[in-house]
Amino acid sequence: MANYELIDHEFDVVVVGAGGAGLRATLGMAEQGLKTACITKVFPTRSHTVAAQGGIAASLQNMGPDSWQWHMYDTVKGSDWLGDNDAMEYLAREAPAAIYELEHYGVPFSRTQDGKIYQRPFGGHMTEFGEGPPVQRTCAAADRTGHAILHTLYGQSLRNNAEFYIEYFALDLIMGENGECQGVIAWKLDDGTLHRFRAKLVVLATGGYGRSYFSATSAHTCTGDGNGMVARAGLPLQDMEFVQFHPTGIYGAGVLITEGARGEGGYLTNSEGERFMERYAPNAKDLASRDVVSRCMTLEIREGRGVGPNKDHIYLHLDHLDPKVLHERLPGITESAKIFAGVDLTREPIPVLPTVHYNMGGIPANYHGEVLDPTPDNPDRTVPGLMAVGEAACASVHGANRLGSNSLTDLVVFGRAAALRAGKVLDRTTPIPGINAAQDAKILARFDRLRNASGSQSTAKLRDEMQRTMQTDAAVFRTDATLKQGVAKMSEIYSRLSDVAVTDRSLIWNSDLVETLELENLMACAMVTVVSAEARHESRGAHAHEDYPSRDDVNWRKHTLSWIDENGAVTLGYRPVHVDPLTPESEGGIDLKKIAPKARVY
Ligand code: FUM
Repeated sequence: MANYELIDHEFDVVVVGAGGAGLRATLGMAEQGLKTACITKVFPTRSHTVAAQGGIAASLQNMGPDSWQWHMYDTVKGSDWLGDNDAMEYLAREAPAAIYELEHYGVPFSRTQDGKIYQRPFGGHMTEFGEGPPVQRTCAAADRTGHAILHTLYGQSLRNNAEFYIEYFALDLIMGENGECQGVIAWKLDDGTLHRFRAKLVVLATGGYGRSYFSATSAHTCTGDGNGMVARAGLPLQDMEFVQFHPTGIYGAGVLITEGARGEGGYLTNSEGERFMERYAPNAKDLASRDVVSRCMTLEIREGRGVGPNKDHIYLHLDHLDPKVLHERLPGITESAKIFAGVDLTREPIPVLPTVHYNMGGIPANYHGEVLDPTPDNPDRTVPGLMAVGEAACASVHGANRLGSNSLTDLVVFGRAAALRAGKVLDRTTPIPGINAAQDAKILARFDRLRNASGSQSTAKLRDEMQRTMQTDAAVFRTDATLKQGVAKMSEIYSRLSDVAVTDRSLIWNSDLVETLELENLMACAMVTVVSAEARHESRGAHAHEDYPSRDDVNWRKHTLSWIDENGAVTLGYRPVHVDPLTPESEGGIDLKKIAPKARVY
């Protein structure tokens, strides 16, 4: 093995990832005077949060009555009763404060006539504990909300002296003998140097793993890097079978058309020109929850009512809206529709298809952001020195299905929560962890093995096979047969990872090696996703199993835990859902009867 020199850095906190959650955590840590580094493989404002369009949910009541209890109820129902009630309460209750903070940091939200933050309707967000019409809860900066938030948080983090390590690829966590995290080793992509970041606390904010599928709204950088690091550290991932398909990816290109388009009055039609969502969801219609709309679209296509020459997609209409609304509220998708579908939104419908968009599963964490390493005796055991926030984490605040616009809320609420927790529990007087030579050697040996890999399988081909398998066998609808086939195919593809070929041996801008490191992370995520899905014999949220079409709360209202070893063998376990909210009803908390499981209809 080559002799790799490590350049040392010492911090109180190292955040890995500079999307919305990573930047909010970085800013919160730095504001409290903690010496904070943020490591990111792309320039911060190019992180995938920049692509978030429609908005961020919070019960501000700017457009009509709302309450955090209604928001919590909608989130519980959206999660199909798999989310943890303490985390869901925290999200809904803290959201308004987190939004006002963003406003004060300088996020340029769209405004109402009287100068308040503009809010639009979004799928699954309703009034009166689901009994009333849709609520306007989603705060928006036109349809570029993520862009606005990301730029603001980056500026504020710099202002508070957070240190950024940009275009550094995090390789692995440095784990101590007692299971504690001591830091991370990263590769600097532009000069090939290797860096050892030792810290009292590492926060993983590495985003989702949408790119384990063939067609995804996620950026090509969404490769589950934090999940991969956690899995290699011998820790479990949670609820990985729940993969969200967004109803309106542009047909063919997969580019996102925000749910805000339906929030502003857009609607879906089939080949008969029928607004079919009225049939499936008489109350919420096109604003039913995403998993529901995606399934209905898939059923319409299956039953021969798809549009286009191959009857394989659906139309989204915005051509009836006032062009002023498109110009003011939806300028980004007006441009995307033109570029990626050749459609003039003022005249024609957009061809759309459900497209992989979000991972509900991830690194198990509590509502403070602390990573969990559950045991049968202690399902809430935490990993010292390690936190996870944002899409990389599974708090579990979205359960089996996330509501649109609850993702940006999750990023800022839990990024902020992690910082608040760190401010309380980090002892500023204790020393930074020392050097752990055995871990360094292990991490560098893996890096060197991949850098010099000279097998027969190209990274691009293995990735393509993985993506097509996941797209076909772990799709909107699943069956015993497709999942069994998915497990067999993914196991076979995984086995060929050890025979991968990297052709570029250099250390500077080696995109071949970056993609291979990313592929290992993606493969771990894909394997545990399909194995967890095969094991779950019920339908819940985004996991629509045709052989088990009903939700089974008696046997399956529990979180899946999945461990993967270096040969790709997956072990499953389970941990209970947190059913107790944070605030008792007697102290103003939600009425427990309201959030008891029931049939999920919109
Ligand atoms: O449709 C959208 O704008 C996506 C929002 C989200 O995933 O929360």
